[in-house]
Amino acid sequence: MIGEAVRRLLAPFTDIEFTATQDAETGYSLALSRRPDVILQDLMMPGVDGMEQIVRIRANPDLADTPLVVLSSHSDAVIKEQCFGAGANDYLVKLPDALELVARIRYHARMGRAQRDRDRAMRALADSEAELVRRNAEVDAANRKLFAMNELLGEEKQRLAEVGALGTKLASVQDLNEVMDQALRLARGFTDADAGSIWIAGAEGIRLVYIQNDTLEAALQPGQRLPLAGDVVLPRDGTSIAGYVASTKKTLRIDDVQHLDASLPYQFLSQVDVQSGYQTRSMLVAPLRVRDEVLGVLQLINARGRGKVSADVAVFTPGDEAALELFAGMASLAVERANLVRGGIMRLIATAEMRDPTETGAHVLRVAECSVAMYDKWAALHNVDESKRLRQRDELRLAAMVHDVGKVAIPDRILKKPGKLDDVEYRHMQTHSVLGGRLFADASNPYDEAMRDVTMHHHDKWDGTGYPGSVNAAMMAQLPVEFDTIPVAKPLRDIEIPIFARIVAVADVYDALTSKRAYKEPWTAEKVTELLRSESGRAFDPELVDIALELQEYFRSVRLRFP
Ligand code: C2E
Ligand code: SIN
Ligand code: SIN
Ligand code: FE
Ligand code: FE
Repeated sequence: MIGEAVRRLLAPFTDIEFTATQDAETGYSLALSRRPDVILQDLMMPGVDGMEQIVRIRANPDLADTPLVVLSSHSDAVIKEQCFGAGANDYLVKLPDALELVARIRYHARMGRAQRDRDRAMRALADSEAELVRRNAEVDAANRKLFAMNELLGEEKQRLAEVGALGTKLASVQDLNEVMDQALRLARGFTDADAGSIWIAGAEGIRLVYIQNDTLEAALQPGQRLPLAGDVVLPRDGTSIAGYVASTKKTLRIDDVQHLDASLPYQFLSQVDVQSGYQTRSMLVAPLRVRDEVLGVLQLINARGRGKVSADVAVFTPGDEAALELFAGMASLAVERANLVRGGIMRLIATAEMRDPTETGAHVLRVAECSVAMYDKWAALHNVDESKRLRQRDELRLAAMVHDVGKVAIPDRILKKPGKLDDVEYRHMQTHSVLGGRLFADASNPYDEAMRDVTMHHHDKWDGTGYPGSVNAAMMAQLPVEFDTIPVAKPLRDIEIPIFARIVAVADVYDALTSKRAYKEPWTAEKVTELLRSESGRAFDPELVDIALELQEYFRSVRLRFP
């Protein structure tokens, strides 16, 4: 019996679990219930023609992608051809040598797994895109309602219409941080607020995620950037101001938080002021909510007052309150939609099977945050106009987050190796650039193009010694599903490397060096600075090295924020 013979062959290889059945029917149902990594299929079986069995397995969507190896007693080319035609992946004349059989089984198991990983990643992406289309329709509907409402309003009508128009701007922003940044900036604009923050509701409470502050920014040295807020989480009850707004879902307008009546349920918690050395007086705080769910809180701080000064503090007006309520409704939809995009990307990254999914998540958030900060300075030096800058920030942030998604197909024994990689392993590791770029090979919008540029080229170097160089669509089409070394391509150098990839290259290496990896300890700040300087004009764009050196203080706050 062939099953017994194969079992004996495979017995010494403990990583392979082998089950055999006598007849086609039992084999088919066993395959369905066990979902093996590889099916070995004999051509001669009692009761059914082996070829029919192959066709039947291929016709079942649950088994269609399972690698199938035919074991046959014929070396006849016609039969072999028929088997491949029916959907077999491989053909061995029995009984094969044990080592060859094992090598084939392992190869097909790996190949099948890589295929499934890629399918999963692509499905996650497709799901979030479908969801996005649906949410965009909701944003449109909300905008229409808003404009209809404007028709009914009296004296504030002009202003509310303007606010509505600002809200529609948010509808095209994809990334969560960009939505928060722009929403806060716009709301501060139409209420003339000196500062503001955004809090997001989560399981642990509501967390401070975003701060803007003109007074603190004006006090910075030239070239510096306001550090990210430290981690502040408030309980989701009525005891703090932000918590009160989240739990009651009502907008709150306070003239002076330093003199709150003791009978009020909420108190001003001065934690953030203490961290920053700023003094909060007036506040206008609105919930961000979609349907009945509170996503977070938008908090405007210190009205500068267009002539509305009381005693020593400028206060927000009822008109500001009405405008903010309207705007918060639109901002909420944009936040929710951007959350879905972020969720899709985080799922995509999670499928990359990293050693520690939480560390991976923080790494990509830090790389994205630092990349965007570098881009802002680069854009100022290159006179990029404001609307282009905002669009590109959004594209870059998403692209920076997926820079290493190609690691999805790198085997664990390499990806999770605790020590140094040998040459063969390192070459295999380098394929993550091309594997990632290939996911976005048919890019047809600026987001996909940015993701393709960054995944493909974040390891290319300014002096042309990086990888993978100019791998183009035709070369990608030639590549097999699995490959363990990058194709030979013309090197890319200096500004031939897309700007987004040049930026992420610096941010990624900076973050890798300052992090602990399975293969290395974190470097000291001095050593990192030294490396950035010595790689200026070699690995990195010299202009970007100067920018990164100026931003070191800010980069440190990013690590504290996403440890
Ligand atoms: P990664 O750990 O995220 O590192 C990203 C890049 O940071 C590296 O790209 C390299 O340019 C830089 N980098 C990281 N650690 C060091 C370091 O100790 N010294 C210097 N001079 N540069 C460093 P690279 O070399 O193309 O590597 C890409 C990825 O390959 C790495 O991503 C990591 O996942 C893997 N890798 C590279 N070398 C090793 C290794 O020796 N052992 C293991 N287990 N993985 C490695
Ligand atoms: C609040 O009580 O919601 C404000 C907390 C703070 O700004 O520290
Ligand atoms: C760009 O303006 O996007 C390209 C310029 C450069 O890569 O330096
Ligand atoms: Fe990488
Ligand atoms: Fe990385």
